[in-house]
Amino acid sequence: MKRLALVTGGVTGIGAAICQALKVAGYSVVANYYGNDAQATDFSHTHDVPVYAWDVSDLDACTKAAAEIVSRHGPIDILVNNAGITRDAMLHKMTAEQWRMVIDVDLGGCFNMCRTVIETMRERQFGRIVNISSVNALSGQAGQTNYAAAKAGVIGFTKALALEGASRGITVNAIAPGYTDTAMVAAVRPDILKSIIDGVPAKRLATPEEIARGVVFLVSDDAGFITGETLSINGGKYLQ
Ligand code: CAA
Repeated sequence: MKRLALVTGGVTGIGAAICQALKVAGYSVVANYYGNDAQATDFSHTHDVPVYAWDVSDLDACTKAAAEIVSRHGPIDILVNNAGITRDAMLHKMTAEQWRMVIDVDLGGCFNMCRTVIETMRERQFGRIVNISSVNALSGQAGQTNYAAAKAGVIGFTKALALEGASRGITVNAIAPGYTDTAMVAAVRPDILKSIIDGVPAKRLATPEEIARGVVFLVSDDAGFITGETLSINGGKYLQ
């Protein structure tokens, strides 16, 4: 029986690449999304990945959606917390709403989804959790106090949950992607983005597929002794 992977934010950008890479690697995959129904339906048909809409910042919604997924597809073996948003602003211009939204989705969503699946993973003595963080959690980034805080929180969360899960066959790891060729990064002002890419030793953006390959490794049996780690995939940014 194929293992079942749930990828949040799974129909666009890095999440879509993760879904496709996990399918190619032989997993059953379901994707969460929130927002564009037409785009999600199109992705679902093209890639044969069932899609489910809910807001990961809402714990009740996570619980209900996971119950439906389990009843239709079986227990969730692999959780990839990829859903994330940005609301960039310098702190002196940041609103409480911009702060709250990013913390609630990027960090709160990680708690909500892990809380939803963890009891069953403990009972079944198996689980793989990969949380998508960011290079900017490690390096900081002007204009992203909210995002850097949330994504750094994800790394601490990952380490703590790894300690809790290790004796139950559950590994919990993070990936810290560098700037990746997605709509989120394309939204950065072109002159700012150019200076960021100029500062990447590899002098280019990551492809979503390069991030997805890290996920495929971390959820594999080969990675069963790796837990609590953060894998940087960033073309050398933050080495300097
Ligand atoms: N370091 C220090 N100061 C900086 C700075 C930097 N990197 N960038 C800008 N500043 C300063 C400017 O010099 C300016 O200073 P003064 O007011 O004294 O002149 C001040 O900050 C305001 O700069 P902006 O004109 O850019 O301000 P803005 O309000 O128009 O824009 C911003 C602010 C939206 C945050 C914009 O700077 C921005 O988009 N920055 C990039 C943020 C970024 O990298 N986001 C990543 C999104 S993708 C992602 O998050 C995925 C991932 O994981 C990597």
